[in-house]
Amino acid sequence: MNLQWYPGHMTKAKRMMQEDMKLIDVVIELVDARIPASSRNPDIDTLAAGKARILLLNKYDLADPDATERWKNWYEKKGFFVAAVNAKNGTGVRNVKDLILCACKDKIERDRKRGIKNRPIRAMIVGIPNVGKSTFINSFAGKACTKTGNKPGVTKGKQWIRLNKNVELLDTPGILWPKFEDELVGERLAFIGSIKDDIIQSAELSLKLIAFLVEHAPQGLENRYGIAQEDMENPLKILEEIALRRGCLIRGEETDYEKAAGILFDDFRSGKCGFITLELPEGEEK
Ligand code: G4P
Repeated sequence: MNLQWYPGHMTKAKRMMQEDMKLIDVVIELVDARIPASSRNPDIDTLAAGKARILLLNKYDLADPDATERWKNWYEKKGFFVAAVNAKNGTGVRNVKDLILCACKDKIERDRKRGIKNRPIRAMIVGIPNVGKSTFINSFAGKACTKTGNKPGVTKGKQWIRLNKNVELLDTPGILWPKFEDELVGERLAFIGSIKDDIIQSAELSLKLIAFLVEHAPQGLENRYGIAQEDMENPLKILEEIALRRGCLIRGEETDYEKAAGILFDDFRSGKCGFITLELPEGEEK
């Protein structure tokens, strides 16, 4: 199976981001806490060269807390200011304002020495599709914020959201695309639902997810579907078992593998098989 997904408007989006990058002081990059490496495009490191960097492990509510802690340490060692957040319910989101001030400490100090006062820090959200950028912007900016720029009669420009007197946020996030050079990256993106299901063969892919779960989180399968760990030798048998237990039959007799796979993916993506992180920092084992 070859997972490829490469929209044509990618170059344009990248060029726009390059332009926006000139205006900002700090890049806030969102990744999915379940795949903190596969859900980022490393090109951002070149695009954001010289900027203060914040990395948010979003959707940490769906990830393994121990793995999230390891990733946090790992990215901190690489020079990022890091936080685990849940953009959906807002957990950890408020602290990001403080993180911005920490990440931009040098710039604030430089401005102060030059006598520049009250120049707000300008931030931009970036990330691959579906990591939660829009949800985060809504949660972070809230309702009380004021938009600046693009006022009637004022020169057309970027839309900035004023978060407080110190920080402004570009209201449109920078979209990057994942890198599919490694087959595992595509697979993991598909597992968490970041690649549209209609372009992948879900039953075939579900066998790979089952194999992963058998190896790394068999209790998830056991708890959710009542499959005993000693019966977990063959992924196809497990899928059949899921189909049987969930009544996935075509015309009442044939196993509906696609339907069973769909159930498994929905369960996995919503944390019903447990809070599972699919990858650990390089060189780290469970
Ligand atoms: P994007 O702008 O980066 O493309 O992502 P977007 O905000 O549209 O979020 C993609 C999906 O991820 C949304 O779900 C959103 O609710 C969910 N999401 C974002 N942050 C979190 C989080 O921290 N935890 C969890 N569990 N989910 C998160 P959806 O199913 O597409 O929409 P909805 O039904 O939730 O509205």
